[in-house]
Amino acid sequence: MIILACDHAGYELKEEIKAFFNKQNITTIDVGTYSKDRVDYPDFAKAGNAKVLENPNNIGIYICGTGIGMSIAANRNPKIRAALCESTKLAHLARAHNNANVLVLSGRFTSKTKAISIIKEFLTTNFEGGRHQKRVKKLNKIV
Ligand code: RB5
Repeated sequence: MIILACDHAGYELKEEIKAFFNKQNITTIDVGTYSKDRVDYPDFAKAGNAKVLENPNNIGIYICGTGIGMSIAANRNPKIRAALCESTKLAHLARAHNNANVLVLSGRFTSKTKAISIIKEFLTTNFEGGRHQKRVKKLNKIV
């Protein structure tokens, strides 16, 4: 399942992404926010994380103005590997090398077209495992 989360600065892009999935009959879970009224991104990263962690196959797509706040907030949970990506190449590597389970996008600096191509790459790339496996495991031993 795909979990969508955003703050007010990511609201427009989140709605466009949701419409993209709807068109293809792909169900998403939208944990908000649901308008352009100002909110705090950590609240929505927290809500998104809770849903993402309900099933190991879930993937989150989180959006704030820069994508930076959402990334910092989401990664506070040791089971979340959130990657801010602004290119398909980075999206590919975030999955292949880091086994990222959350894609973070910038609502202010990433166009809809670009966002969709980044999402497609993220969703169609598998974790390579191998030498990357032990590195990803070590992430949980940092603190
Ligand atoms: C909201 O104005 C903005 O600060 C937020 O969306 C995000 O960019 C924070 O990192």
